[in-house]
Amino acid sequence: MPLETPAKTELVRDLLGRPLASLRVSVIDRCDLRCQYCMPEEHYTWLPSKDILNASELERAVDAFCQVGVRSVRLTGGEPLLRAKLPALVARLAALPLVEDLAMTTNATQLARWAGPLRAAGLQRITVSLDSLDSARFAALTRRNAHAKALEGIRAAAAIGFDALKLNVVVMRDFNDDELVALLEFGREVGAEVRFIEYMDVGGATQWSRQKVVSQAEMLARLTAHYGPLEREAERGSAPAARFRLGDGTRFGMVASVTEPFCGACDRSRLTADGLWYTCLYAQQGTDLKPLLRAGADRERLVRRIRAGWAGRTDQSAEERSRDPQRGALYPVEALQADPHREMHTRGG
Ligand code: GTP
Ligand code: 5AD
Ligand code: SF4
Repeated sequence: MPLETPAKTELVRDLLGRPLASLRVSVIDRCDLRCQYCMPEEHYTWLPSKDILNASELERAVDAFCQVGVRSVRLTGGEPLLRAKLPALVARLAALPLVEDLAMTTNATQLARWAGPLRAAGLQRITVSLDSLDSARFAALTRRNAHAKALEGIRAAAAIGFDALKLNVVVMRDFNDDELVALLEFGREVGAEVRFIEYMDVGGATQWSRQKVVSQAEMLARLTAHYGPLEREAERGSAPAARFRLGDGTRFGMVASVTEPFCGACDRSRLTADGLWYTCLYAQQGTDLKPLLRAGADRERLVRRIRAGWAGRTDQSAEERSRDPQRGALYPVEALQADPHREMHTRGG
């Protein structure tokens, strides 16, 4: 049964006047790849299975977030396709009356199998993380041989036809910064919008250094050298990606979280698979919603907790970090082991 829609939802703004509009839900922390920019070498800790929220707990959480403003929901992981019965969860979330946009970020290794059932269940948009077209590089980065599977998944999603298909490329100096044009051409071939992402110093990126970041300005200069003048699209609202157009109309995006942080417009929250709510990608502390969800709290209690949490929010960590001249990896491996919630694979990218 779909949950009832109230006549009017009461929106909330944080202490910097930012609304809450977007929620990223990590449906599982596990992943079948081990990308170096996301997970430390061998020292990662999975969340205990008993702590993972079930579908109805997740549905109640998302419903409560919608009551204070969320309209856009993105499923993340780990790798979301590793969660059992994902299409059934998607169908429940798609049926929530206030969810206007339902998307998923995936590594695509299992997408060929699941793209059809997910589309049928109501998933609107898919973003695939793909950092290289070279299978040896892909294997070196992800520490798994799954490049062919990922490409197969991307082509399957393209063939099925989602409202949007995007490719996320984290650009790292001397690793894949020579592939910008090739990746853009691949995106064009499969009908996907490519987004180049500056390498970020998030939890899990233990080998991060400023020197490995290729800035948006540098990427744009390289693309201009190849394609000629690029056009920057005017309005981006609260989206992390600035959008550009090639002369022939091909669109692509850039996420410049390191050199041009966008905290001023940040309207997003993150929920981990075990119910911790974070109001910033870099936040040290989260609010544990699991006890409320497991105790059967009604919508009103959940909404009160979320509204209070957002109303006190001041996060703008990417901007604060950009002012730190000593900037390095966010956490050493030991600190990640002490709390797996600090890692990107738990927090959902
Ligand atoms: P759309 O819904 O298509 O606009 O996608 P999105 O850009 O919101 O989501 P996606 O998961 O594709 O995000 C792209 C990249 O931007 C992520 O992989 C992160 O690297 C970065 N990113 C996403 N959200 C945030 C955020 O809240 N803060 C910062 N600093 N970076 C973010
Ligand atoms: N820097 C930039 N982006 C990252 N992601 C994961 N770790 C990092 C990082 N250190 C991105 C991946 C994926 C999304 C979930 O998060 O590219 O698309
Ligand atoms: Fe939002 Fe935090 Fe990212 Fe800034 S660093 S954009 S506040 S999530």
